Amino acid sequence: MWPYKLQCFECQRGFPAEEAGFRCKTCGGLLEVKFDLAGKREPAWNRRQLSVWKYRELLPIEKEESIISLAEGGTGLHHCKRLGRKLGLKNLYIKNEGENPTGSFKDRGMTVAISKAIELGKKKVLCASTGNTAASLAAYSARAGMECIVLMPKGKVAGGKMLQVMMHGAKLIQIRGDFDLALEVAMELADKRREFYLMNSINPFRLEGQKTLAFEILDQLGNRVPEVVVLPVGNGGNISAAWKGFSEFQRLKIVKNRPRMIGIQAEKAAPIARAVKSGQSKIRPIHNPQTIATAIRIGSPVNWPKVLLAIRESKGTAETVTDRQILEAQRELATLEGIFVEPASAASIAGLKRLSDEGRMDPSEIIVCVTTGHGLKDPSVLERLPKSQTGYNLEITNGSRLEALERIL
Ligand code: F0G
Repeated sequence: MWPYKLQCFECQRGFPAEEAGFRCKTCGGLLEVKFDLAGKREPAWNRRQLSVWKYRELLPIEKEESIISLAEGGTGLHHCKRLGRKLGLKNLYIKNEGENPTGSFKDRGMTVAISKAIELGKKKVLCASTGNTAASLAAYSARAGMECIVLMPKGKVAGGKMLQVMMHGAKLIQIRGDFDLALEVAMELADKRREFYLMNSINPFRLEGQKTLAFEILDQLGNRVPEVVVLPVGNGGNISAAWKGFSEFQRLKIVKNRPRMIGIQAEKAAPIARAVKSGQSKIRPIHNPQTIATAIRIGSPVNWPKVLLAIRESKGTAETVTDRQILEAQRELATLEGIFVEPASAASIAGLKRLSDEGRMDPSEIIVCVTTGHGLKDPSVLERLPKSQTGYNLEITNGSRLEALERIL
């Protein structure tokens, strides 16, 4: 591991890792891990297999023995020609994060954050979640032998994720209210009782794992930098972590430039897209956010300063999509490319489609769309499928069964 410190994102004050909470003690700003990359050169990474831990020099874990892993990262980067043709884009790639061990991108961050929790001597971990963070934390804490507490908005979490949390034996607390309230309560508890270690994306160590998404994209494209990366945005951890990853490869001179970052939010849960579109330098939280994409049903994203900076620095943008566009994009990706993602993930495809339809994409650019969670997480979509996709009934009667079947075909 290369040397690093924790630093305030706002006032740049430094803190030692063991002392820091989750906010700057001076100004209350978000913290981030800063690696000292002066004089550093790319290690022999090409001899290692694609995975989060391939890039261990750039991950803040001191000892190999601390690492808790379920083989995360190394997800596919799929060239999507059929979907690309439909969207009028020649070089469309999907980075499919649903291929991670618990079915979402959260595992990249969780393997690092739980390993750090071990190094910090923590025994109890805690998160608020719309489902995927909780599912991931439940699995990794089980593997680490730690106690796990998750707070989730009651009735607003997809069935697959609920099952994962319960199956891994986490202590599940459902609250009446939305994710934003759950996170507020979780942060209060973590502040008051230091034995509960908070694993949300306000934890800077978790974002370090998530930045490996950017490293892998560059690796898989042979260090050709995509012009555009599109991600769904909820709490804003992933897009800012990816931006940090691209920036670190640039500082290491592995690549010369960085992609434009495009964040997509659901229409009625879009504080970041609204701020970007109206040129504001701050977000205005949205009360009672709504969307079928429950994973990104968030009105007050904690990482907003990092997201706005990533979008501005990269000359990117943010856009909104409706629930109907999300569901349509989900089906299109599944039927044209064989990739099944949950609704929040399909938001990135829906957003790209919108931008392309509006003539805001260059058809020849290399575009990477990140799909963040597996489609099996949310079986409730079954009820929203159009009739044409829900199959047929076949009455088997002796003698005529083949004819009846052939009529359907
Ligand atoms: N996609 C999926 C499938 C998610 O679960 C999330 C966030 C996001 C996108 C947005 O990522 O928050 O880093 O901007 N899910 C969190 C959770 C909030 O609790 O599982 P973000």
